[in-house]
Amino acid sequence: MAVYPHVFQYPFATLQEKGFEMKGHWNETFFKNNNPIVLELGCGKGEYTVGLGKLFPEKNFIGTDIKGARMWSGAKESLEAGMSNVAFLRTSIELIAAFFALNEVSEIWLTFPDPQMKKAGKRLTSTRFMQLYRQILTPAGLIHLKTDSPFLYTYTCEMAKANRYPVLFQTADLYHSADPADPILSIRTYYEQQWLDRGLTIKYLRFACEERDSLTEPETEIEYDPYRSFNRSRRKG
Ligand SMILES: C[S@@+](CC[C@H](N)C(=O)[O-])C[C@H]1O[C@@H](n2cnc3c(N)ncnc32)[C@H](O)[C@@H]1O
Repeated sequence: MAVYPHVFQYPFATLQEKGFEMKGHWNETFFKNNNPIVLELGCGKGEYTVGLGKLFPEKNFIGTDIKGARMWSGAKESLEAGMSNVAFLRTSIELIAAFFALNEVSEIWLTFPDPQMKKAGKRLTSTRFMQLYRQILTPAGLIHLKTDSPFLYTYTCEMAKANRYPVLFQTADLYHSADPADPILSIRTYYEQQWLDRGLTIKYLRFACEERDSLTEPETEIEYDPYRSFNRSRRKG
């Protein structure tokens, strides 16, 4: 990864001392075009970053995760395929505004994040994270959430409603409701396949994270996902 030209890894100390020189300049410095930039946050092996990169050559994709070993498989695949519209950034999501300027990112994909049922502040679709994403998104920047979790899906629908974010598409059972030709059906992540193998339905939500003067956390009580407390063999059962 250290020698891959499309992988950026910045220790926190370096970031604090020098900042990130490509912030606000990814397109002119790295991609060498003016195409929209799409982030996958918590990308794991980067299946969406690479898969969408192949489907949409007219957009630039950046996969982000804190775990380098996982990201390596997507980084290797995209390098070997000679893809010029894919990059990877190793960082904690909480620091994302240090790497991108306002209006630099058009879309954010959240693929199977931990629902963080007990800690709203750590949930990647909480208002805390919406505030963070707003610092890098274009005015009508899109958020895509794909999840197995009924809890996270319901919470995110409620959060979008409470803050009047326009919802462009939503389904609690993606593989039985979307157009079979839709490209979002053609890419399955590592975690997604595990949940599908266990017979769980996949939920998907796409909304515009517009500017708001203030944000409201939803007040609805949401039932926890019962299967999340099971260990792997009980989940399989
Ligand atoms: C449940 S996995 C999903 C991985 C992948 N999207 C998939 O569907 O297979 C969550 C991923 O998010 C990453 N992650 C969680 N919290 C993060 C954070 N605060 N900053 C960066 N990455 C994070 C983890 O390292 C992990 O790879």
